[in-house]
Amino acid sequence: MIKLVQWIKACNLDQVKEGQLFGFSHNDKKILMANQKGKIHATDLICTHADADLSTGFLSDEGVRCPLHLSVFNLENGQPQNLPAEIPLKVYNVKIDQDEIYVEI
Ligand code: FES
Repeated sequence: MIKLVQWIKACNLDQVKEGQLFGFSHNDKKILMANQKGKIHATDLICTHADADLSTGFLSDEGVRCPLHLSVFNLENGQPQNLPAEIPLKVYNVKIDQDEIYVEI
């Protein structure tokens, strides 16, 4: 089966400055953009434990911390670092072109 991939525009580079989080929707996908020490990451926006919006969480060197029950997710691989979340977030490829950020979904 052919896997259909698509690059979509997430936001402009200045919408997710270092240390910031940015959430957006594209059709039924909800995506989190995170700028961790100057590197842009894209993951699922909604926590895998319950229905919490990770863009309202906290970004640190360890990853993004869910605002509801405080699981931290690694942004490279989506893995939760502590309970209660046990399921990884999906991570997405990111590219930057002319100050615009694109995500491969
Ligand atoms: S909703 Fe995120 S850890 Fe519970």
